[in-house]
Amino acid sequence: MGIDVAGSTFGIHTETTSYVFGVTGEGLLRHLHWGGRIELCDVIVEPLWELSTNDLIQDVTPQEYPGHGRFRYNEHCLAIMFSDGGRELDLRYAGHDLGAALVVHLRDDRGVRVDLHYEVLESIDVIRRWVVVYADVPVSVQAVASAQFHIPYRDLDLRNVAGRWGAEFQEIVQPVTSKVVLESRRGISNHHHNPYAVLSRQATETSGQVWGMALAFSGNTKTVVEQTQYGQTLVQLGINDADLAIALNAGDSFTAPAVVATYTPHGFDALSQNLHDYGRSLMEPTPRPVLYNSWEATNFAVTCDAQIALAHRAAQIGAELFVVDDGWFGRRNPEPTGGITDGLGDWWVDPAKFPDGLTPLIDEVHQLGMTFGIWVEPEMVNPGSDLYAAHPDWIYHEQGREPDTARGQYVLNLTLAPVQEFITQMLDDLLAENVIGYVKWDANRPMSQVGAGRDVWYRHVQALYDIVREVKGRHPGVLFEACASGGGRIDFGALSVFDDFWTSDNTDALDRLDIHRGYSLVYPPQAMRAWVTDVPNFLSQRSIALTFRFHSAMTGSLGIGCDLTAMSDEDLRASAKHVQQYEQLRPLMQRWHRLENPSSNDYRLIQYSSPAGAVLFVFLPASRLGHTSTTVRLRGLEPTARYRFELDWQTHVARGDYLMNRGVRVWLQGDYASTVIRFDRMDD
Ligand code: GLA
Repeated sequence: MGIDVAGSTFGIHTETTSYVFGVTGEGLLRHLHWGGRIELCDVIVEPLWELSTNDLIQDVTPQEYPGHGRFRYNEHCLAIMFSDGGRELDLRYAGHDLGAALVVHLRDDRGVRVDLHYEVLESIDVIRRWVVVYADVPVSVQAVASAQFHIPYRDLDLRNVAGRWGAEFQEIVQPVTSKVVLESRRGISNHHHNPYAVLSRQATETSGQVWGMALAFSGNTKTVVEQTQYGQTLVQLGINDADLAIALNAGDSFTAPAVVATYTPHGFDALSQNLHDYGRSLMEPTPRPVLYNSWEATNFAVTCDAQIALAHRAAQIGAELFVVDDGWFGRRNPEPTGGITDGLGDWWVDPAKFPDGLTPLIDEVHQLGMTFGIWVEPEMVNPGSDLYAAHPDWIYHEQGREPDTARGQYVLNLTLAPVQEFITQMLDDLLAENVIGYVKWDANRPMSQVGAGRDVWYRHVQALYDIVREVKGRHPGVLFEACASGGGRIDFGALSVFDDFWTSDNTDALDRLDIHRGYSLVYPPQAMRAWVTDVPNFLSQRSIALTFRFHSAMTGSLGIGCDLTAMSDEDLRASAKHVQQYEQLRPLMQRWHRLENPSSNDYRLIQYSSPAGAVLFVFLPASRLGHTSTTVRLRGLEPTARYRFELDWQTHVARGDYLMNRGVRVWLQGDYASTVIRFDRMDD
């Protein structure tokens, strides 16, 4: 078992790491170690002193879960307002229970209790933490983080992502010299940052200490990274306390979203392996089907005949799943007769587009051997819809003020029971009346004007999770894709209910390499949807070779979004070959590796490994002045096993240690050049 207790010291161990904390004389929970494996019997608890009359024990102590109050000035995890307006919290250790998880009890004498839960996933070096706040008297929770961590170094580097719509997941690295706050205030997860923190110390892809922490929540989040005055770096993750208030009556409790955490001394590749393993543990293990999606081909101009024509071509190139995107319902027509201001909320099949309902299209898709999937945006409603006319009070709005639209739509108040019932029933009916195996759940605007309730930021997300779980329970086997104007809803909370992520509306194959790299630091590539689309790309206006576009999309779970009815026969044949190759490579594409690129920065490298072999993708965006070859050292192979591979039109056999230590030379030329090399492990 990976958790042990010695007196009042607690150890949470994986095979190679330990996380240790203990109880101080003041009853505070003091963090003691997070790093390589140690044994509790060796732990020396050095005394901590107040450093001055301005550096008092509550701040000097690296606390596991400090409350607001007393002399705590650095970040605190919990802030409460009692019914008399008092806000002083004094959380002290009050015992523990050790079962499948360690539960440490904290208590404040005024009637608030907190349980800190620690669970360990030993084989993947991951710790899962969450907290439950219990109220014995009525209180208002004003801030409730999920966890706080202490890394025993200063001058660490923080990694996260920055971006916006169409430019999600661009990696950022910044030295932490004071306090950094990364947050979402949009209710729906956002494209700007992601709720995690990766801290490192002189690390590379393959070496150096790295700590990673990620919050499983898809709404307003806040990550604080603070270099303390006491030689450490504090990291706190939780739901955002901006505009938050959660009322608890006596006897109520509140469970905050979980945080997963991992440590490795072996660099970013090892960190990603641990977090990907965790992500995959949330997912159905079967690979995601090769998808065709109609959005870029037809936009809102969906008709039964046009979709059937696309479906024939999609089947011809080998797609396994055909998804009709936006435009099949209500009065959701292309300009000038309609547009994005109408349709959402009216989830009836548009008879002008589908005179006999969806059945003829679905039957055809099934005849062609594909699964049928459909797009919905259930949290939204358009002002022009019948739903809004019938229920104008179902949207988030501020009394006495005109509600704002964004993309011509309002957000439904998911905290209302009738709204939850409407959405659940709508999806239940859609899936009961039609044979549908895949639902793309979109959300194309942030929340705003949420009215008086300051807990809706949290409750909206819980309602979303509950609805998806309920509908999946009624329709087992249906896969749900999370999309929010592209990659606006990607986190471990979403991955615990959704099966697939739409990573970005930016489908430019070169931009996608950066987006995939940013995404894959934390999240598993098996849930990273990527489409091959037409050129010039609608966003970048770049025309990239078809092979490069396929290779780029093949690094995630492959989709195609081209207008296949306009594709040349030659490109259709080439596409079919790429899809076939992807299907053959897919069993080997299990563990995604971040590779060092020692000889040239011109190349982009992505490698997958599996017990049966490896797949290496090499991209050369541009052949620049002085361009040369690159040597690629592989990762994740069995050192003594032999691998067969083709390079420079010759078949080679080499041991894993050769491929990992010496590597292979790859030389591409031209612009948007790419190749994929397969390494098959040979029988011993
Ligand atoms: C969002 C999604 C797209 C597409 C459109 C449809 O932008 O990210 O993939 O589904 O909505 O309106």
